Amino acid sequence: MRGIYIVIPTYNESENIQDMIKIIRSIDCDYHIIVVDDNSPDGTAAVVQEMQKSSAFIHMVKRPGKLGIGSAICDGIKTALSSADCQYIVTLDADFSHNPADIPILLEVAENADMVQGSRYMEGGKITGWTWRRKFISRTANCLYRYLLNIPQHEITTSFRVYSRKCAECITQYVNTDRYEYGLATALVIRDNGFKVKEVPIEFVDRTRGKSKLKVSDIVYSLRYLAYIFILRLSRNLGIQRFIRFCIVGTTGIIINQGLLWVLTDKLGIYYLYSALISIEGSILSNFVFNDLWTFRDKRRISSPVFIRLLKYNLLCAVGSSFNYAILWFFTDILHFYYLLSNLFGIAAALAWNYTISLNWAWVSLGIKKKKSNGK
Ligand code: GDD
Ligand code: MN
Repeated sequence: MRGIYIVIPTYNESENIQDMIKIIRSIDCDYHIIVVDDNSPDGTAAVVQEMQKSSAFIHMVKRPGKLGIGSAICDGIKTALSSADCQYIVTLDADFSHNPADIPILLEVAENADMVQGSRYMEGGKITGWTWRRKFISRTANCLYRYLLNIPQHEITTSFRVYSRKCAECITQYVNTDRYEYGLATALVIRDNGFKVKEVPIEFVDRTRGKSKLKVSDIVYSLRYLAYIFILRLSRNLGIQRFIRFCIVGTTGIIINQGLLWVLTDKLGIYYLYSALISIEGSILSNFVFNDLWTFRDKRRISSPVFIRLLKYNLLCAVGSSFNYAILWFFTDILHFYYLLSNLFGIAAALAWNYTISLNWAWVSLGIKKKKSNGK
């Protein structure tokens, strides 16, 4: 197959890169391989340079220092696009977590898609060798991205992908992130520009040589990026005035939840898990009343009767509230945190859920639905 460029970011992959290049070339020696190395101290670049002597299909982008996996992939894609014959770009890790034997499978699917995502989280996908902690972090990140930002595919973070030329051009134009949040940033641009995405199940196998470069700071960075995008989109969807009201109501909800819990527990001597039932319900009610009377006042005319709205809102919040309740118990009874601090963690978990729900359902879409059926 011609016009295929394989982009491999590397940082300290001298133990892997030679075998990786050899195997890819054994699959199809017409594939161009672009290694993007960040001046790895272990001499990865020297290994690649040696191999370049025997093939004109092996290319290298050398960068001055560790600048991040995201920008490395992006620079690799730009280099591939600078060749006029480039039609498809494959990106994968150097450490054999992505099986190079899957490349032709992804490429075949790419004939009917703009981006093909190798997926661990769709049916048939698998992760082998990761600790439960690493699995938990990755799974949580993928769920948060998928549900908070409405991204259609099951897998967003792993970089085993195929991009069509058009899709790759769009990404290099709009994406400007350096680290592991690149997976999310590209998924958003792909969705927002209406590109067709297909997923192919893959088995992801933890590396046997070398170490992962993912650090805690990368995770924090990705979460910060998610929060930034979430808030940006929320404020854009709601309009700035409604967004500010929404935040104010949310804050009063937190104060009411914490305040009631403290008064009932510390001042009235009620067992904290009983107090929590009242404080959580109190905050649900106050959020509903303020949002209904203030934030979404203009939607009330076209929504269902207040009693039905309140009942639905309460039912939907039940899920978020059970997170709140379970986390309050777990952090207080099991981890021995101060109960008001545990409650804050619980509230944070419930917020993400409840806010998504109240936005998508209780007011906005109910209003829109009603409007449509009235034929207005
Ligand atoms: N050039 C360059 N610069 N390459 C890098 C850098 C960097 O700063 N950081 C990592 N890499 C390269 C590694 O050398 C490897 O080839 C690939 O990027 C993946 O890095 P790993 O360190 O092996 O990441 P992981 O296996 O822990 O990360 C997994 O999870 C990430 C987040 O979910 C993989 O699935 C990644 O694809 C995924 O993005
Ligand atoms: Mn890896």
